[in-house]
Amino acid sequence: MNDTIAAAREKLLQQFETLANKQDILKSPELRRLMEGIRDIPAVDRATYGQAVNALKVELSEKVAAASAGQTVALPAIDVTAPCDINTPEPSSLSAGQGTVHPLTQEMMRVSDIFGRMGFRSYESREIDDQYHMFETLNFPKGHPARDDYDTFMTVERDHDGDPLIAPAHTSTMQNRILTEQRSNLDNGEAIAAVVIDRCFRNEDLDARHEHTFYQVEGIYVDRNVHAGMLVATLQTFLEEYYGTKLDVRVNPFYFPFTEPSFEFALSCPFCDKKGCSVCSYEGWIELLGCGMIHPNVLKAAGIDPAVYTGFAWGCGIDRLVMMKNSIEDIRHFESAKLDFLRQF
Ligand code: DAH
Repeated sequence: MNDTIAAAREKLLQQFETLANKQDILKSPELRRLMEGIRDIPAVDRATYGQAVNALKVELSEKVAAASAGQTVALPAIDVTAPCDINTPEPSSLSAGQGTVHPLTQEMMRVSDIFGRMGFRSYESREIDDQYHMFETLNFPKGHPARDDYDTFMTVERDHDGDPLIAPAHTSTMQNRILTEQRSNLDNGEAIAAVVIDRCFRNEDLDARHEHTFYQVEGIYVDRNVHAGMLVATLQTFLEEYYGTKLDVRVNPFYFPFTEPSFEFALSCPFCDKKGCSVCSYEGWIELLGCGMIHPNVLKAAGIDPAVYTGFAWGCGIDRLVMMKNSIEDIRHFESAKLDFLRQF
C-alpha cells in the first residue's frame, strides 16, 4: 500500500515540475485515483491509507502555494470617474435603466413556493461558513477522505477551531442549524420540514456544465416513522409540479457520509418521455440529485435521538433544473451578466 502511494508521489512530483499551471496538479487523475482507492482498502488499513493520501495532498498544495507566491496579476485600468453610457443600444426594447428578475431568482422563488405549499419552510444559507457545519456535523470527521470530493474555496481567516473558513460547497451546511433550531417541534409532535435555497461555491474547472458559483435546494424532513418511500414521493411530487408533467423516477445506491442509505435520484426526461432527446443526451433519464435517509450521527449532532426519529434529506442543483427547463446550453451564462441572455427571461 505504501509502495503504491510512494510511486504515485514520485510521479506527481515529476508532473508538477512540467506543469505550466501548477494548480492543475491537485486535479491530476493520479491523485484522484489514490483518493478513490480508499473504497477498496480493507477497513483496518483505511485510516492509515487515508492519512497518507491526505499528507500527499497537503504536500502538493503547499508546493502550489509556494509556486504562486510572488506572482502578480495585472489589473485592467478602469476609469471609475467616467460617465456610464446608459444609451448603449441593446437588442431588446428595454432601456438600460430597467431591470428584470434574474432567471435563477425567478425559478428559486417558484421552488420555494412549491415546497412552501407542501409544508416546507424556506431558509437561506451563508456565503462564508466553518468546517464544523460544512463537514463535522455532517459525519465527515477531520481527515475523512470524502472531504476531498468538495473542492472548497478556503479563506486565510480561521474559525475558533483553527480551521480556515470556507465558502460553502453545498447547502447541507445548514442541516445542523435547522435541526437544532426546530428540534423542539418534534417534542410537540410536529415534523421538521425545511428547504434551503441558496448559493454554493466550488473550485471547479469551468465548462458548460461546471461553474464556481451555483445554486442548490436542500431539503430535510424528520419525524417518527419516516421512510425512503416518503423521500421518493416528495421529490416526485415536487418535480411533477415544477415541470408540469407526470414523470417516472429512479433511485440508485450512492454514497454520501451524511445519509445512510444514500441514493442518486433520476427522473424520466420531461421533454421526450423517455424516447431520448438532446436534453437527456438520448438516455431518456436525467440524474438530477443526491438524497438519502439522514445518518444517525447527523441527527445525534443536533441532539435528536435517532432511535425515535428518522428523516430524509436531498440536495439538488437549481441551475441544472432551470437549464433543462429553458434549453440553456451553458451554465456560465447565469453569472455572465450578459444582457442579451438575461433579457430573454
Ligand atoms: N450536499 C450534496 C452535494 O452537494 C448533495 C446532497 C446529497 C444533499 C444527499 C443531501 C443529501 O442533503 O441527503 O454533493
